[in-house]
This record gives sequence, C-alpha cells and structure tokens, in this order.
Amino acid sequence: MTTPTQNPTEKTSTDSRNASLVEVDPVIARAIDNEVARQANGLELIASENFVSEAVLEAAGSVFTNKYAEGYPGKRYYGGCEWTDVVEQTAIDRAKELFGAEHANVQPHSGAQANMAVYLAAIQYGDQILGMSLAHGGHLTHGHPMNFSGFSYKVADYGVSRETEQIDYDELQRLAEEHRPKLLVCGASAYPRTIDFERIGKIARSVGARMFADIAHIAGPIAAGLHPSPLPHADYVTTTTHKTLRGPRGGLILCKEEHAKAINSKVFPGVQGGPLVHIIAAKAVAFGEALREDFKEYQRQILKNAKALANELQEQGLRLVSGGTDNHLMLVDVWLDGKGVTGKDAEKALEAASITVNKNTIPFDQNKPFVASGLRIGTPAVTTRGMKEPEMREIGRLIAEVIHAPESEEVRNKVKQGVADLTERFPLYQKRLKV
Ligand SMILES: Cc1ncc(COP(=O)(O)O)c(C=O)c1O
Repeated sequence: MTTPTQNPTEKTSTDSRNASLVEVDPVIARAIDNEVARQANGLELIASENFVSEAVLEAAGSVFTNKYAEGYPGKRYYGGCEWTDVVEQTAIDRAKELFGAEHANVQPHSGAQANMAVYLAAIQYGDQILGMSLAHGGHLTHGHPMNFSGFSYKVADYGVSRETEQIDYDELQRLAEEHRPKLLVCGASAYPRTIDFERIGKIARSVGARMFADIAHIAGPIAAGLHPSPLPHADYVTTTTHKTLRGPRGGLILCKEEHAKAINSKVFPGVQGGPLVHIIAAKAVAFGEALREDFKEYQRQILKNAKALANELQEQGLRLVSGGTDNHLMLVDVWLDGKGVTGKDAEKALEAASITVNKNTIPFDQNKPFVASGLRIGTPAVTTRGMKEPEMREIGRLIAEVIHAPESEEVRNKVKQGVADLTERFPLYQKRLKV
C-alpha cells in the first residue's frame, strides 16, 4: 500500500469541476485505491459486509447525489424530480416483489434510522418493548440503554437458553406475559440459527403486542426463500440493504398497507430530510439483481459455505456457539473458558494475517464486550468472490492455525501466503476497479 503524500490544499487550480479525483484530491484518491487493494487482497469474513456489483457502485456514484427530493414519488417538495420518481418507484416496486410486501419505504439512510421510524410509528415514548439483548445476539436498536430505543422506551429483554444457546421461545412467551409489551422486537446481529417468526408472531398476538422483525442480517436468505419470512406474521419488517442483500449501505422498511402512511411520515419528515437518491438508485439495482435466479443460487452457496466453514472450525478444535449454524454466520468461542484467546486478540492476530473478522461477545460471556470471548464469522463476501466449500475448508484451517498460535510470526506469514493464493484465484472487481 502507498501512503498519501500530497495535500490538496497545496494545489492552486481554481476550477476542479472537470478534473479527475486524483487531480482534485490525491489524498482521497489514494485512500480509495488502497481500500480497493485491501478488499481485493484480504479475506473478508465480517458477517455484515459484502461486495456490491460494479453496477450498484455506478448507481451509488451517480449524479443523483446532486438531487433534493423531500417527499415521495408524485408528491415532492422540490421540482425536477421526474427521474428521481422513476428511480424511487422502481426501488419500491422491486422491494415489494422481492419480499412479497404490501408496502415498502426505501428512504431510510441506514438500518438504525429504519428502526427508529418503526418505533415512532408503532408506539409512544415510554411504552414497554421486549427485544433480544445485545449480549445474546440482538442489536443496539432493540432496546440497549445507550441507544434511543433504550432511553426512549421501557425495555425488557430476552436471550438464548444456557443449554442450547438458542432462543428459548417458552421463556419468551413467559416474558411477554410478564411485561405485556406494546412492541415485540425480533431479529439479530449475531444469532446463527433460524428464527421462528411464526412462533414469535403468535406470542406477540397472545399479549396484544405488535411484532417488529429486523431482518438486517438474513434479508438475503429470506428473499431467496431459504429462511422463513416474517412478512406474514410481522406488522413491521426492517432490513439494511448492504449485508446478505448485497446492495448499497442503507435501510428499508416493509409493512402492511394499514401502516404505510404512519411509516412514511415517520421516515420523512419524522427522522430524515431529503432522501439519498443516488443510494436509492443503487438499492433499485441491487433489488433487481436479487430478483434474478442466480441470486438464489448465490444465497444457497452462502449457506453451504457457512456450514462447510463451521464444520472445519469444529474439526480444528474450536467451539461454535449453539453447535453450528443455519444461516450465513457463526459465533466461534475462542476463549474456551480461559484456555484459549480473547476475541480481541484473535481478531488482531487474524487481521495481521489479512483475514478480517470481528470480535463478538458470546452468550453469558465472561469477558467485557470490548474484549469478548468470541468471533463472528460470515460467508456472504467470500461467496460473492465465487469461493465454495473446498475454499471454506482451507479458510477454516488458516483461521485455526492463527488462533492456535496468535503470536507466531512464522504462522502469520504462512497464513498470509495462503490468503494471497486464495484471493488471486478469486479476483474481486474485474472491470473498473481491477487491481
Ligand atoms: C440486526 C441489525 N439491525 C440494524 C442494524 C443497523 O444498521 P446500520 O448500521 O445501517 O444503522 C444492524 C447493523 O449491524 C443490524 O445487524
């Protein structure tokens, strides 16, 4: 990698409108080039990341970044929105078709903002909610005290059972009866098993709660019909568009028609101003890609790859939370009751060997969240590169070698070479961004 040397403020040029990025701003141009190289030359195993297509990148980098378009298609507070309306309506139609939803709002700038709009549409400040605890795989926006969801509502949380490390639905029913939430929140950031949305819907209805499913992680398998969909059971469904769904960074809300008006008004003007039209264009492209048959095959391969990688890690002596995975991710217990390493050290050692993962708490963790006992590992990004089960077994062996000898430079160099061999065989971007 190269280091930025030139400061753009040293340049004297007065009109940079038609100059290239490298001429206008070599510091940022070089950072982008180096990031392309980092993504291409490393193994990306962060479960929430992916590589969008060059078509999605092109749409995200388009002139729609210039456009203000407060409002919704056909009802804008700005002129000049005829092409914006084409973009947004296409994104809405494709999202509805993809998930079989009655209504879609494609404007949320992020998953967190999508979730905020749902809370505002569904309940009042101070109402009781019941969500999955962050420590057991939930998300900050499901009621964590440091997040708006935690300090705006009364929160009770549920988790996994100690024995199975999977959601205990009987206990969830009991907690719902005890706390009588107005909103039952489900979905997760670090949960490797199938979520029984039908059962959660029954629990919500049994206590008169509305159901909110955040499918940020598993939207891809759901769209492909490989994980049960919450749509028939939930009042509100949100997702990010940049994880298994393989779109640009952003959020999406799906709901029944009866909630459409409230949701739309809570996104804009409730929590946002003008939509990011360039990102909505990229969402439309990604949803179009997800409607194609090859997307289903891609999602199938993500799941097969996760199983293959999980099996290899177990064979290499590592413990998987809940004993395995049904989806695109696994939680690896690297601490092993003090006999292993911390998640923090494992993440650092792997990064030095060009393997990117994130440390993660495991249920009933003995370590603090910033240290953590586990790693969260996912297969969406490496599957996008075309890797299959044999490569997953190879990756499993490389990961285990580093975790078993995190201080060894010899191991690190050997693993780095293994990573280089793999990434050369499965190039990332092959047209505009070829490295
Ligand atoms: C389940 C879940 N919901 C919401 C979010 C928030 O998404 P964003 O980072 O786009 O705000 C995440 C992100 O990791 C997530 O995993």
